[in-house]
Amino acid sequence: MSSIRWIVAAALAGMTLTALAASEAELTREARALVKQYAHRLKHELKHALSEEGVTGAIKACRVKAPDIGAEVSDASGWSVRRTSLKLRSLDDVPDKWEVKVLESFERRKAAGEPVARIDHAEVVTQKGRRWFRYMKAIPTQKVCLKCHGGDISEDVREALDASYPFDQARGFKEGDIRGAFTLKRALD
Ligand code: HEC
Repeated sequence: MSSIRWIVAAALAGMTLTALAASEAELTREARALVKQYAHRLKHELKHALSEEGVTGAIKACRVKAPDIGAEVSDASGWSVRRTSLKLRSLDDVPDKWEVKVLESFERRKAAGEPVARIDHAEVVTQKGRRWFRYMKAIPTQKVCLKCHGGDISEDVREALDASYPFDQARGFKEGDIRGAFTLKRALD
């Protein structure tokens, strides 16, 4: 190849990389906005259920509403929008291999001093022959979460949780722990 062709080829490759980086930044912005929307709706639903129905009643609201809200945000956006965790309550939220790896890296980042509320990760991955844009954002444990995810859960709440979630591992969290993560993906081709 003549040198001019090399230069043109290199410039085109550079442009493609720049375009890719720009679209990744754009997709990350989109994912962050969807997480905000999803988190806001979940929190609103939780607050409402806690004040109207008390803690045991709110468990049912979480069981029914949390997956519904995820499905609604997914349908409206064309993304898959879920929650997952290394210590699960619902078996519908089981992480895949990539999500486990990212959740473990979030724990390391927290241990290194990064504020949990700022921990997130975006990546383009090839899985089952398709390219995906994937994004995860850590969910900090707040005081209100401890009623159902803390170490000192009241008897009636424990019973209600045991009845619906016999394999529940999502207890024993402290304020500031990583409770889990929002996990989003979108096919790129
Ligand atoms: C009223 C009890 C209750 C409170 C309070 C509560 N949760 Fe949950 N949480 C649940 C239930 C029940 C589920 C399982 C939902 C389902 O079946 O999809 C759940 C599931 C989750 C999951 C999905 C992963 C998994 O383990 O299945 C995350 C993440 C989560 N909760 C985070 C939080 C955070 C953060 C807070 C505080 C802002 C919070 N929860 C407060 C009851 C509660």
